[in-house]
Amino acid sequence: MKLSILAIVGGFAACAAAAPAPTAHVVHEKRETASERWSRRSDIKLNRDALIPMSFGLTQRNLDNGFEFLMDVSHPESKNFGKHWSMDKIADTFAPSTETLEAVKTWLKESGIEDDRLTVAKGRNWVKVELTVGEAESLLRTEYHVYTNTQTGKEHLACSDYSVPAHITEHIDFITPTIQFDATVKQMPKRDLSKRNMKVRPFPIAVRPDAAPQPEVTYSLANCDQYITPDCLRALYDFPNGTLASSSYGIVEYTPNTYLQSDLNVFYANLARQIPSGTGPTVDLIDGATTMGGTKSFDNQGESDLDLQYAIALVYPQKVTLYQNGDSIEGSSFGNFLDAIDSSYCSGDNPTYDAVYPDPASGGYKGAEACGTIKAASVISTSYGYNEADLPASYETRQCNEYMKLGLAGTTFVFSSGDSGVAGNNGDCCTKAKCAGGTYNTGGSGTFNPAFPATCPYITSVGATQIKPNTAVTATAPEEACETVIYSGGGFSNVFAMPSYQSTAVKSYFTSHKPTYTATQYNNSQTVRGYPDVSANGANYVVAVDGALGLVYGTSASAPTFGSIITLINEQRIAAGKSTVGFINPTLYANPSAFNDIVSGGNQGCGTAGFTAVSGWDPVTGLGTPNYAKLLSAFLALP
Ligand SMILES: *[C@@H]1O[C@H](CO)[C@@H](O)[C@H](O)[C@H]1NC(C)=O
Ligand SMILES: *[C@@H]1O[C@H](CO)[C@@H](O)[C@H](O)[C@H]1NC(C)=O
Repeated sequence: MKLSILAIVGGFAACAAAAPAPTAHVVHEKRETASERWSRRSDIKLNRDALIPMSFGLTQRNLDNGFEFLMDVSHPESKNFGKHWSMDKIADTFAPSTETLEAVKTWLKESGIEDDRLTVAKGRNWVKVELTVGEAESLLRTEYHVYTNTQTGKEHLACSDYSVPAHITEHIDFITPTIQFDATVKQMPKRDLSKRNMKVRPFPIAVRPDAAPQPEVTYSLANCDQYITPDCLRALYDFPNGTLASSSYGIVEYTPNTYLQSDLNVFYANLARQIPSGTGPTVDLIDGATTMGGTKSFDNQGESDLDLQYAIALVYPQKVTLYQNGDSIEGSSFGNFLDAIDSSYCSGDNPTYDAVYPDPASGGYKGAEACGTIKAASVISTSYGYNEADLPASYETRQCNEYMKLGLAGTTFVFSSGDSGVAGNNGDCCTKAKCAGGTYNTGGSGTFNPAFPATCPYITSVGATQIKPNTAVTATAPEEACETVIYSGGGFSNVFAMPSYQSTAVKSYFTSHKPTYTATQYNNSQTVRGYPDVSANGANYVVAVDGALGLVYGTSASAPTFGSIITLINEQRIAAGKSTVGFINPTLYANPSAFNDIVSGGNQGCGTAGFTAVSGWDPVTGLGTPNYAKLLSAFLALP
């Protein structure tokens, strides 16, 4: 009989035997810091015959070449620019080698685990097997323990390190369940693993609870410094109303955040009158999602209403696709969404961080998890994020590599860079010099806390700006870094190396504007990924939520706006008989003059003033805000 982890917890068998003497094993992964949130239960002894569902992530081939492959189709100087790969070619290129699979199977067999117990994923990238606690402890030279989350009471099975034979290390990325904890429990129950990057402030003038047209004078280009509307953004970044519908644009939302069609209608009636009432997104419901959200509240509708209202208004008549993820109980993660759009990613989910479907909980979605059944749009914008320190580097690297693969297939991924400046979500900073292990000083001082996936070099990270007070959009330099309600997420990664496409820009930043902070605050080695890449307005967005217009702030607003501009560029390239743009960063960094350089404001956090926006790239506003006309001509000049 199969025992779940809960059943193991219930077992009070004999104490686990001491680990066998090490042979040629070497430590493969080790937890760097003790977690304050998970306490080891010395009162619970694991039953050594209970079964653990183990997954062995095999090392993929050619990942070392992934960056070069991507540059070949994305670098503006490459003759293969725009020649994106098929998903089949991508799966074949990166699948683990047969040698890797055989080496792992042989090791398991020599350890007494016969082939007929193993399941090998279709893409060869995962081997799964149920091991008894005794088998797993002996195989990995470790001891498993039950840990309890001190805040939620949730129990979790983990070890503090594990080892594999020296000749196996090169064939294995990581094994689960091992050292990982459910990292983000503090503020967020599991369904909230992907956290909104948005804060709100009540609308300062009369809230309008109906769709009655508002007099033109209230919102106009003359008061964009107080009220951002689609017309303000078109004027700021020099882009026209959409006329074509030839491309595709996806907005990702995570349950319980859902939109209300009635809110979209209120928005159109006030701010986008060319769009007929009833116009909605094309909805892809993933893993038991529904758009009939829970109760009406800013928390439930704010993010989705904002993202969809601006995406739809800026690219109309292009239809926007909504990727709504997860049921209302188990929720969802970035990994679950990637499963839905790429079948080769599916078998590698980590039950610690990714939702598991069918959902065993009462009322949960009983269907199978979506695996490659959803088509990826040409541009996909996401306004959710983690702190890098919430997740193990191995998990983040695997996910980041997936963005590389989908970039090869021609998808542009746009993510908001976070709203707490150099601090992490909720203003959290790290307690360790190297921000790792998910231990934070809530709202306090400490090490800067970079965002993920904002630091992944294969996505475009978007920071936030604001119009300077009392400045017209017609002025030559109307914007500065956002310092109203939120501060633009930005800084330097603790996980990812600096990609070559940004090395000139970042080097020039350190040469001309070296920040005074030391390695105590952030990784100042000048060898790591800097973010954001670009920025767009993120203050005073007029949004209809739960029937009323209000003002919203955040890189949550900046990302869908920037994604809309790239979608309009895709339509013009398609009209010219060209491919969509795919991974854009190399072209963006090669064309700094296609951006309005932002040279004032900062992104305070962690008890510091943060970094400062300066001429050229900076870790507050990136290259600056887009000038559509210039960016379009740069992309139209490419093959
Ligand atoms: C876009 O369309 C709206 C509504 O028809 C109009 O008010 C606005 O002037 C147009 N903007 C541009 C830049 O063409
Ligand atoms: C900074 O990053 C580099 C490159 O990854 C790494 O070698 C170095 O140890 C990091 N510095 C600190 C203080 O973590």
